[in-house]
Amino acid sequence: MAATKVLVVDDDLNIQRVLVFTLKQEGYEVVIASDGAAGVEMAASEAPDLILMDVAMPKLDGYAATQQIRGAEQGGHRVPIIMLTAEAEVEERVKGLRAGADDDIVKPFHPLELMAKIKALLSRGGPSRPATGGEQPTLGRLAVFYGAKGGVGTTTIAINTAIGLAREIGRKTALIDANLQFGDLRVFMDLALDTASIVNAVSEPDLDVDLLRKLMVHHHSGVDLLLAPPSPEAADLVVERQRSDPDSLSKLLGLARRAYDYTLIDMVKTIDDFNLQLFDEADVIFVVMTADLSCLKNVRLVLETMGSLGYERSKVQLVLNRSNAYTGINVNNAESALGRQIDYQIINEYRGAISALNSGEPIMSSRPDAPLARSIIDFARAMDAEFAAEPVAART
Ligand SMILES: Nc1ncnc2c1ncn2[C@@H]1O[C@H](COP(=O)(O)OP(=O)(O)OP(=O)(O)O)[C@@H](O)[C@H]1O
Ligand SMILES: [Mg+2]
Repeated sequence: MAATKVLVVDDDLNIQRVLVFTLKQEGYEVVIASDGAAGVEMAASEAPDLILMDVAMPKLDGYAATQQIRGAEQGGHRVPIIMLTAEAEVEERVKGLRAGADDDIVKPFHPLELMAKIKALLSRGGPSRPATGGEQPTLGRLAVFYGAKGGVGTTTIAINTAIGLAREIGRKTALIDANLQFGDLRVFMDLALDTASIVNAVSEPDLDVDLLRKLMVHHHSGVDLLLAPPSPEAADLVVERQRSDPDSLSKLLGLARRAYDYTLIDMVKTIDDFNLQLFDEADVIFVVMTADLSCLKNVRLVLETMGSLGYERSKVQLVLNRSNAYTGINVNNAESALGRQIDYQIINEYRGAISALNSGEPIMSSRPDAPLARSIIDFARAMDAEFAAEPVAART
């Protein structure tokens, strides 16, 4: 079998040398172009299996070269392209993804990191993976998790449900962090600050399924994550964008529905325009609660608000977390205080929950047999049974 051919497009001789050395050691065949224009020509004449594309180059920069290569591709053929960028700035990197790159790596990089990215891209279906189209239809469900009070376990449940749906039930699942100012997913899942986030997704005028997927972090648990902005200040950009053009958020959620069976959203308690739109767009609102008086009071208010928004009762579902923790209020007491049924219960396992949090590895991926993980899997299965049974055509 012929060796996998990598085209290196870079004007820097030192980088060329290092890349040729590393790639050849790994058994790849390497061809080199020293500027963007030559890169475009060789992408056609050499038919490489993968391209490493520098950004700043004479004649034609890496963005333009990538665009031209994509423009010339035919018949669903699509060569994987990795941008080699000198910019750690997320905005610059998103520019490369928008131009048609599949991934990027910031210089200077460790050869092992580059090799991991190359292998990941080649194994994703390789050169002939179609850009878009030909996708399997998805269930396209949107579920939001809303804590009736801070600290009741909303993020814990959203994350582990997402992993359960992806891993145990085999659903394509995305998780969006809508705690815009103090999103916790990066901490819960041990992720760096230098990734794209919801800011990039809502600001992107030409967002499509392909670009949305690239803006997400592909967590090893199988869940794709759209993270909260890296800083509280950047949260304002998302809120502003939603205010001036609510369609930008609708579009984002619509694309997520197209790409995933389930899109879950971890929300914060505030009731503002942004959150109201999330409630509106959702198929189901899981109100997470614990059995204590102040939380019950909040749940009543939340239910009233949901009622006045005109939502059907079935759209709002109550999830009692830490259901077997002693609070002096049992499930029956809680149900009669609320005048409605608790729909789901998740057990209490403080040690499991907190040690998972502190290790940056959700319990569903580190200890799927732990009681808490099993309890959340039961919830995920029940949720899936309900949603998957519903005909997709019922939704517009
Ligand atoms: N079922 C559970 N059993 C025991 N502890 C839990 C359970 N669920 C969550 N916890 C713990 O409760 C704490 C708060 O959890 P988490 O951050 O998920 O809540 P939250 O509602 O998202 O909080 P915030 O309002 O800060 O966003 C964490 O220490 C977590 O480990
Ligand atoms: Mg939270």
